[in-house]
Amino acid sequence: MSDTLTITDNRTGRTYELPIENGAIRARDLKQIRVDDEDFGLVSYDPAFMNTASCTSRITYIDGDRGILWYRGYPIEQVAENSSHLEVAYLLLNGELPTRDQLAAWVNEITVHTFVHENVKKFIDGFHYDAHPMSIVLSTVGALSTFYPAARNIADPATTHLQIVRLIAKMPTLAAFAYRHSVGMPYVYPDNNLSYAGNFLNMLFRISEVRYSPNPILERALDALFILHADHEQNCSTNAIRAVGSSRVDPLSAMSAAIAALYGPLHGGANEEVLRMLEGIGRKENVPEFIKKVKAGEAKLMGFGHRVYKSYDPRARFIKGIADQVFEVTGRNPLLDIALELERIALQEDYFVSRKLYPNVDFYSGLIYQAMGFPKTMFPVLFAIPRTVGWLSQWKEMVGDPEQKIARPRQLYLGAAKRDYVPIAERGVRELVNQS
Ligand code: SDX
Repeated sequence: MSDTLTITDNRTGRTYELPIENGAIRARDLKQIRVDDEDFGLVSYDPAFMNTASCTSRITYIDGDRGILWYRGYPIEQVAENSSHLEVAYLLLNGELPTRDQLAAWVNEITVHTFVHENVKKFIDGFHYDAHPMSIVLSTVGALSTFYPAARNIADPATTHLQIVRLIAKMPTLAAFAYRHSVGMPYVYPDNNLSYAGNFLNMLFRISEVRYSPNPILERALDALFILHADHEQNCSTNAIRAVGSSRVDPLSAMSAAIAALYGPLHGGANEEVLRMLEGIGRKENVPEFIKKVKAGEAKLMGFGHRVYKSYDPRARFIKGIADQVFEVTGRNPLLDIALELERIALQEDYFVSRKLYPNVDFYSGLIYQAMGFPKTMFPVLFAIPRTVGWLSQWKEMVGDPEQKIARPRQLYLGAAKRDYVPIAERGVRELVNQS
């Protein structure tokens, strides 16, 4: 036995031995399989990358069948229980948990970069009052690159580190400014005496009090939610920042592409859609009727299903626990009863069981955010803030990977064969002639 794959091309009778490494063959090894010298060689075809690895990575590990998620080898349950978002950010970026001194220096470095240039307020002011906050953050992050032209120098580790610090530090500020703009409230500047999550709550919800004191239970709950959303290996938005970043554009511009991908309702926009779905169902008694629609293909059960998890998303389980703590403070979200009934039925109905559809990270998170006072439109922004460090850790790994080049996939061309240009006077006539 050997770690190789033997392939016989029945078109030619030739046999090939392809090495198997890390559970994979290299798609480029297929290129040698050809019919004749004119043949380009065999290409692998995998729309939406259902079974294709685009990179090697040492950051996050997921076992979808067993519902396992590790950050740099540490189980998500342990870091969510014991760590903080900034400590997890350090871990994801550097590969190891920080010492006490390293953490203190890291937290200080993030804290002193929370302010944004005053001009940022001017273009946030330019949006309509009802502009979706995710659209505001998406465009503002791209615009931030104009304030830091040195960010283009991605070959310099110190410059790159500074851009990563800036993005992690400023995302809560941009998110809070977008929210305050949407509710017609003045912007609240960062309070560098508060924690990462506490300061975010301050910039969102401080009214006239001289100093904002975040509720410690909500502050801790938000920080735990940030940990759970920090990274998730090669999801759609991470694939976006890796692909866009492979052209060697600056990380701020590359991250605006990731935010755009996360915005989609099938990805990070799902948490907002879950709440709209629950509000549309209205009452627990209406759940069976809605399930019928889903099974008929007339609706999706938003917050359910996952490309990788074919069992319960470990993050969803943890978030459900956070919900109980938050509702102790905010009062129970009545939509929870509808969500629990949806889950109860879905986990026993063959339609969902046969397709291995379980609650994912987005199913319960929106209920918590709504109870904490966030409007639905802020939910995807609450996903983008913590995922910033995941995106940038993956981007940094891609930039430093000697195997990576500019991402440029092949295609299988099924279009028109070569044909001559048709002068406009002859168009339509020929078709009529052909049809007659
Ligand atoms: C995130 O990739 C990541 O890691 C993402 C994420 C992260 O942390 O970055 O985990 C965050 O994006 C979580 C997913 C949030 N999205 C949603 O909750 C939207 C609802 N879910 C689906 O749209 C869907 O499950 C996806 C997009 C999440 C996964 O889609 P896949 O892997 O392409 O699966 P599929 O669409 O091919 O579905 C397989 C079958 C289909 O039925 P059949 O064609 O076999 O009859 O399952 C059905 C689908 O119709 N199906 C659903 C469903 N999800 C899949 N049917 C009803 N409701 C659903 N939610």
